[in-house]
Amino acid sequence: MMIQAHLHSLFLLTLYLITGYGQDGKFSGPLKPMTFSVYEGQELSQLLFQFKSSPSAVDFKLTGETDGIFKIQPDGFLYLTKALDRETTAVYNLQVAALDAHGATVEGPVPITIEVKDINDNRPMFLQSNYEGSVRQNSRAGKPFMYVNATDLDDPATPNGQLVYQIIIQLPNINNVMYFQINNKTGAISLTQEGSQELDPVKNPSYNLMVLVKDLDGQNENSFSDTTSVDILVKENIWKAPEPVEIEENSIGPYPIKITQVQWNEPDVQYSLAEVAKLPRFPFSIDQEGDIYVTEPLDREKNDSYVFYAVAKDEKGKLLARPLKINVKVTDINDNPPTCPSAKTVFEVQENEIIGSNIGTFIAHDMDQEGTANSILRYKIVEQIPKFPKDGLFLVQTYGGVFQLAQQSLKKQYAPQYNLTVEVSDKDFKTLCSVEINVIDINDEIPIFEKSNYGNLTLAEDTKVGSTILIIQATDGDEPFTGSSNILYHITEGDSEGLLEVDTDPHTNAGYVKIKKPLDFETTPVHNIVFKAENPEPLVSGIEYNSSSFATFKLTVTDVNEPPIFSQQVFQAKVYENAKIGTKLGNVSAKDPEGLEISPLTGGSSLASTASFHLTLMDVNDNAPRLAKDYTGVFFCHPLKAPESFIFEATDDDQQSFRGPQFTFALRSESLQKDWEVSKINGTHARLSSRHTDFEEKVYNISVLISDVGQPPMQGAVSLSITFCSCVEGRCFRPVGRLRGRPTVGMAVGTILTTLLVMGIILAVVFIRMKMNKGKANTENAQPSEVRPLSN
Ligand SMILES: *[C@@H]1O[C@H](CO)[C@@H](O)[C@H](O)[C@H]1NC(C)=O
Ligand SMILES: *[C@@H]1O[C@H](CO)[C@@H](O)[C@H](O)[C@H]1NC(C)=O
Ligand SMILES: *[C@@H]1O[C@H](CO)[C@@H](O)[C@H](O)[C@H]1NC(C)=O
Ligand SMILES: *[C@@H]1O[C@H](CO)[C@@H](O)[C@H](O)[C@H]1NC(C)=O
Ligand SMILES: *[C@@H]1O[C@H](CO)[C@@H](O)[C@H](O)[C@H]1NC(C)=O
Ligand SMILES: *[C@@H]1O[C@H](CO)[C@@H](O)[C@H](O)[C@H]1NC(C)=O
Ligand SMILES: *[C@@H]1O[C@H](CO)[C@@H](O)[C@H](O)[C@H]1NC(C)=O
Ligand SMILES: *[C@@H]1O[C@H](CO)[C@@H](O)[C@H](O)[C@H]1NC(C)=O
Ligand SMILES: *[C@@H]1O[C@H](CO)[C@@H](O)[C@H](O)[C@H]1NC(C)=O
Repeated sequence: MMIQAHLHSLFLLTLYLITGYGQDGKFSGPLKPMTFSVYEGQELSQLLFQFKSSPSAVDFKLTGETDGIFKIQPDGFLYLTKALDRETTAVYNLQVAALDAHGATVEGPVPITIEVKDINDNRPMFLQSNYEGSVRQNSRAGKPFMYVNATDLDDPATPNGQLVYQIIIQLPNINNVMYFQINNKTGAISLTQEGSQELDPVKNPSYNLMVLVKDLDGQNENSFSDTTSVDILVKENIWKAPEPVEIEENSIGPYPIKITQVQWNEPDVQYSLAEVAKLPRFPFSIDQEGDIYVTEPLDREKNDSYVFYAVAKDEKGKLLARPLKINVKVTDINDNPPTCPSAKTVFEVQENEIIGSNIGTFIAHDMDQEGTANSILRYKIVEQIPKFPKDGLFLVQTYGGVFQLAQQSLKKQYAPQYNLTVEVSDKDFKTLCSVEINVIDINDEIPIFEKSNYGNLTLAEDTKVGSTILIIQATDGDEPFTGSSNILYHITEGDSEGLLEVDTDPHTNAGYVKIKKPLDFETTPVHNIVFKAENPEPLVSGIEYNSSSFATFKLTVTDVNEPPIFSQQVFQAKVYENAKIGTKLGNVSAKDPEGLEISPLTGGSSLASTASFHLTLMDVNDNAPRLAKDYTGVFFCHPLKAPESFIFEATDDDQQSFRGPQFTFALRSESLQKDWEVSKINGTHARLSSRHTDFEEKVYNISVLISDVGQPPMQGAVSLSITFCSCVEGRCFRPVGRLRGRPTVGMAVGTILTTLLVMGIILAVVFIRMKMNKGKANTENAQPSEVRPLSN
């Protein structure tokens, strides 16, 4: 510190020097414009700065708003003598000049500004200790309805002067639900969401709030505070949806016509209407008194109700509260005549319907409101065309529209169609509608033949299948081209074999009698035929087919020479393969339809037929069993160390049972039994074993008998030759020469010519030529003329 000794007593406490500029040091410098900031409220005097000027200066002069507080010493010390109060004077403007010994200014004056800085030395204070306000029920949450206001003299640019509001008590307070809120900066009081929804003047019309205000942003425990009491009156909300409005349709006017109104709680609002769904034309308006009008006639049949909203906005266009729903119902007047269901309504009725039968229901429409006299309809028949056989054939039920047969059954022959005019009326209007009634034919006519007898017809029996031999005709009085008048012809007698058929021409109902299967003089030379004509549809009850629906016809068939006919198309026979030449294989037989003689020989104008003859050859057990393979080269190494054996297989060329051959095996002579043994393994295999080891080094021929189980059994003797030889590395070492004359084993191959298992099916075509002769001949005389196997 560079404080001069003679000022010591003045400046014992801390200097509240915050800023300075342009000085040499922090607390001293040349004379020039400067600004100092000094906190208010400091009790003791303070040194601010020491000015240093040119050497000629011997004194300084302080002028301006010194208020007797700021002083300067001849040596340039600027100081203040008592505490400042920002709330009294926030800024002091001073001037300092340097003087010479003559009191003349040698430097300056320069401006010196003292800014007084704030300390929190003032409490916030509400302007009123009690506030009163009111709010409408259902006011929009957050929209201020009153303010509280506190002031604090401290610098509002510092926390010292910044106030925060807070509601600390709400009375009554149920379940801790706050209905009111305060803007902590502005003191604006508004409803909370709950308050907007739940406040109800009927339940509780007044509330009291305790509001606290704090300075230092409310954040500091050193902050000052104040409270105030706020009384709030909850008032009824007159912004309410009006009752649903009813407007009679098509009112004459003049328009617009006021239909209802809405009103906001305060004046100076802007009203408007909002549609729910966009209508092509919106026929309502609202004025700035809140009166709602319909602007044009409404039509209930176009739209019987409207829903839209009335909206209140403040001058800034902001919604004041939720919009109100306006329901408009358009009431009916009888402004629509009845309408016919279609240009013409068609009913159908059958000929034989009885009186009172329901023909159909006629339903006209009326667009006016259902269930009112405006739309209840009455029906009346006002005209019937034709009036034949009489007028008033039909009636209609006055309210139901049901048409009934009034007087008698209808006949299509009298009139196939009636045109009726029906008058339909509501309370005020009458409409004429057309109804057409068509009479439908029923099957009440039977087909009637144009004649009951179609005479005699003689045909050769070879008349071609498909030929038309007769045209018959019946007619039916029912409606043409229906199942009631179409005719089907049946042959009910004289054609049990079904040789004939009748096709109907659908346009003319003519019946074409045709041959379906060949006629046969020999079977039936005369057909006494009865035709019946019928409808596909059944006849109505009470009507029966009678003799007029039947016709007769006599068909005589004449004989024609025909070829002989085999009794079968294929003949079959079996014979054993060893059958002797001349063995009879079987019979074929044929007949002539006319009973003429059949001859195997061809001649003259004879007619011939062919048939097939299948011959099956059967096997005979005529082959002996034999070895299946060549067994030469079998050897046992000499001398034997143990008895040896080998397996061989036999076969047979005859046909075998499905189990395969069942051979038995035996040594041919008893002399072999001391050295050898044959044992059967299965039907085809056997084992030949040595009984000991004591054999010479040579070739042994062992003759074995193999027998089959055929009828009669066959036995084959086969020779198995086994060489006993010295072995080198398991191979027989056979001295050259000893093997000459190899054994010829199983030489049964030569018999292969007779070994076919099944000789196969040989197709023989038998040609039988028969000579035709007049007169009777016994068919047993027919003989096979040629039997020729076709196989190789
Ligand atoms: C609060 O009162 C002061 C002093 O009367 C005034 O300047 C200020 O606008 C008021 N504030 C509000 C929100 O009314
Ligand atoms: C004042 O209100 C604002 C906004 O609601 C909030 O963010 C802020 O924290 C509040 N201040 C205090 C001191 O409660
Ligand atoms: C009838 O009015 C209702 C409600 O205003 C609307 O939703 C509907 O589309 C209207 N119908 C016609 C046919 O205009
Ligand atoms: C019924 O009216 C139609 C025209 O709508 C006409 O063609 C028909 O001939 C009329 N029938 C009778 C029986 O008059
Ligand atoms: C048809 O033939 C029979 C004899 O078979 C004869 O009695 C009858 O008169 C003949 N009818 C006609 C129409 O020729
Ligand atoms: C068969 O019945 C019809 C009417 O259905 C009648 O016209 C005809 O005379 C009858 N024929 C005989 C043979 O009775
Ligand atoms: C062949 O015909 C004769 C005489 O009808 C008959 O006795 C014999 O059994 C027939 N033979 C065969 C194989 O059908
Ligand atoms: C018979 O026995 C031999 C040898 O054991 C064998 O190979 C063959 O398959 C057998 N044959 C039958 C039909 O079992
Ligand atoms: C073995 O039989 C074959 C023919 O069966 C014969 O040629 C050969 O001489 C016979 N050998 C002996 C040693 O009997």
